Amino acid sequence: MTTYAVVNTKGGVGKSTNSIHLACHLATKGPTLLIDGDPQESAATWAAWRRDCKEAEGLPMPVTICLRGKAIYDEGKHLVTNYKNTVVDAGGRDAPGLRNALLLADVAIIPVGASDLDAAAMTDLLEVVDIAKDYNPNLVVKVLLARVDPRTKDAKDMLKWLKENNLSALSARVCERVVFRRSIGEGRTVEELAKDPQAIAEMKAFYEEITQ
Ligand SMILES: Nc1ncnc2c1ncn2[C@@H]1O[C@H](COP(=O)(O)OP(=O)(O)OP(=O)(O)O)[C@@H](O)[C@H]1O
Ligand SMILES: [Mg+2]
Repeated sequence: MTTYAVVNTKGGVGKSTNSIHLACHLATKGPTLLIDGDPQESAATWAAWRRDCKEAEGLPMPVTICLRGKAIYDEGKHLVTNYKNTVVDAGGRDAPGLRNALLLADVAIIPVGASDLDAAAMTDLLEVVDIAKDYNPNLVVKVLLARVDPRTKDAKDMLKWLKENNLSALSARVCERVVFRRSIGEGRTVEELAKDPQAIAEMKAFYEEITQ
């Protein structure tokens, strides 16, 4: 039984996209819960699209529910016991939902873009993660470089910055690829859409590394 919280106080870094992908992957392994902790309800919207998608019929599907604020921990801690794995898509700001997701989680995954602004914005988040560790000392924290432009050396610079700040980055990284937007919009994943082998390989590496 493992709970993953996909968190960042910065918006648009790929929290929902990567939460949905991880939850769908885990759903192929056993009963999986996807908690949408964001008032924007991106994960729940995706789940509704998936239910309407003919091509997605019969595909493994995480049970998707919306929880807010304190309920993410208070209700989440009972719900997770019914599932092999749980993924929480936390909202993109420092709010009770994010803090409660970090209390519930075994593993925090922090998707970050590779830019100076992304690095600067991490300072806030790291304070929140530090506080969470006081209450949840076994929390494992992993940074996932996401929406990376493969033509630049931005990822390399960001990895250097993460190392200097004693942050553990996954070797896997997710590049900016149009297929992520397409697949989510169709209620599916890049694997299920089967249009971009590079995107599929990136996600496979991410799942393998995070679940080992
Ligand atoms: N690897 C990717 N390649 C291309 N587009 C991506 C990728 N990941 C996410 N996106 C797109 O970037 C936008 C933001 O992604 P997403 O909604 O997953 O981020 P988020 O961190 O959950 O945002 P928010 O803070 O608003 O909840 C969306 O339009 C999404 O389709
Ligand atoms: Mg989101």
